[in-house]
Amino acid sequence: MEIKILKDENEIGAACGQFFVDYINANPKCVLGFATGATPVPTYNYIVDAYNNKKVSLKEISTFNLDEYCDIPKEHKNSYWYFMRENLFGKVDVNYDNVDFLNGNADTEAESARYAKAIADKGGIDVQILGIGRNGHIAFNEPSDEFTDEAWKVTLTQSTIDANSKYFDDIPMPHYAVTMGIGSIMRSKKIILIATGDSKAEAVKAMIKGPVTPQCPASILQQHNDVVIYLDEAAAALL
Ligand code: GLP
Repeated sequence: MEIKILKDENEIGAACGQFFVDYINANPKCVLGFATGATPVPTYNYIVDAYNNKKVSLKEISTFNLDEYCDIPKEHKNSYWYFMRENLFGKVDVNYDNVDFLNGNADTEAESARYAKAIADKGGIDVQILGIGRNGHIAFNEPSDEFTDEAWKVTLTQSTIDANSKYFDDIPMPHYAVTMGIGSIMRSKKIILIATGDSKAEAVKAMIKGPVTPQCPASILQQHNDVVIYLDEAAAALL
C-alpha cells in the first residue's frame, strides 16, 4: 500500500484529479471504476474543471460504478446513478453508451452475472476509485464473516444507514443495495482509496494496521499489489 497524507480534501482532490487527467490523456480508452459519496467529489470537480479548460476529454472512456440502492427508481435524486450524472457524467463529454451501472431493481443473480461479463468484456477495470465507510466498508460490502466475490445484494448496517440517511429528505433511506463484491473490486488493476475527516480515522487504522479480515472489508486491500491511499491529516490521525 502506498500511503499519501495531504493537508485536506482540496489537496487530495487536486492530486487525485490530476492523476485521472494524466491517466485518461495517456489511455483515452481506459476503463474506470467510480465511487459515490462525498469523499470523491473534490476529485470529480477537478476533472470537470480540467474538461472545461480543454485539458482532458472523457469521450472514449468506459465506466462502471461500485454500487446502487435497491427499491428506488434509477432517476430518483438519491440514486447513485443520479449522483454520478450530477457530479461528473453530466458535466463532461462521457459517452453514456459506455457508462454501466448495477441495476438495484433487477434480479440480483442475473444482474451480477451481467455486470461481471460486462467488466470482463471491457478487459477489466484499469483504475478503481474507492471511499471507505466508518465501519471499514468499501462500496457497500459491510463487515461480515466472509469476503464476497461478484456483485450481490446487501442489507445495509445501522452504521451506514445513520451515515447516509441525511441525504434522504422525501423517502426513507433504502435498507438494501447491490454492490460490486470484494473479488470484483480486487480484480481492478489499480485502486485509489480516499479517506478524509476524523470520522474515518478508526476505519483507516484498521484497514492499514489491522489484520486482514472481512470484519473490516477494506483491510483486504493490503493484499492488492497496486493500491494508493490518499488521506487527509484528520483521517490519518491514528496511524
Ligand atoms: C457509501 C458508499 C461508499 C462510500 C461510503 C462513504 O456507503 N456506498 O462507496 O465510500 O458511503 O461515503 P462518504 O464518502 O460520503 O463518507
